[in-house]
Amino acid sequence: MPPIILRPADFATEAARFILGQMRAGLGERGLFRLALSGGKTPRAVHAELVRLGSELPWNRVQITFGDERCVPPDDSESNFRMARETLLEAVGIPAGNVFRIRGEIAPEEAAREYEEKLAAFANRCGERRYVHDLVLLGLGEDGHTASLFPGSRALDETTRNVIATTGPKPPPQRVTMTFPLLNAARQVAFLVTGAEKHPLVGEIVAGGSAHPAGRVQPENGAVTWIVG
Ligand code: 6PG
Repeated sequence: MPPIILRPADFATEAARFILGQMRAGLGERGLFRLALSGGKTPRAVHAELVRLGSELPWNRVQITFGDERCVPPDDSESNFRMARETLLEAVGIPAGNVFRIRGEIAPEEAAREYEEKLAAFANRCGERRYVHDLVLLGLGEDGHTASLFPGSRALDETTRNVIATTGPKPPPQRVTMTFPLLNAARQVAFLVTGAEKHPLVGEIVAGGSAHPAGRVQPENGAVTWIVG
């Protein structure tokens, strides 16, 4: 399934509208929506629009996971969880039990295993071989990385595990990340990308055949949408 590319005039608003549309459809079909949040800076503006446009959604029927996390405490300024809590989770009042946080404050491999087991327990209850996200939000680094799957990393070759500890050149270096098998089990993936400096890279990736890590996000039974600002 070829990727869909959206280049909206108002990136944050249209990205939020896309996400909310998927959420409403998924909640209508399955009564639960499993959403993986992305890290970095780009999601901040989108989260603000999700709060502004989607506060009436039944967030108590949304389950939140994180595509990756930096190995820092949850109140660290570099924490993806902290960014999500401050810009989205507190504002929409999602129950704490619906938020699956990667514990960046413990040893990376232990945090990865713990997270993998948490997702597997829920997947088993759903009769799934591995956890199936309804929508995974991802960012794109200027080197073509996504989540914490960086060029040249052994993490790119993981074909069995769903969550692993890894390192990368973007500080902080120690990370926990979802792997391609888990990302590619999703029903939908949306890349949220801003910055003209990334536009050529997006073009290379959506053209196919590139070696960039982001280009290897190809859900077996799902669609990829690029929302580019
Ligand atoms: C992280 C992210 C990472 C991010 C990209 C884009 O933890 O840093 O998961 O993959 O999405 O590096 O980051 P910006 O949105 O800040 O450009």
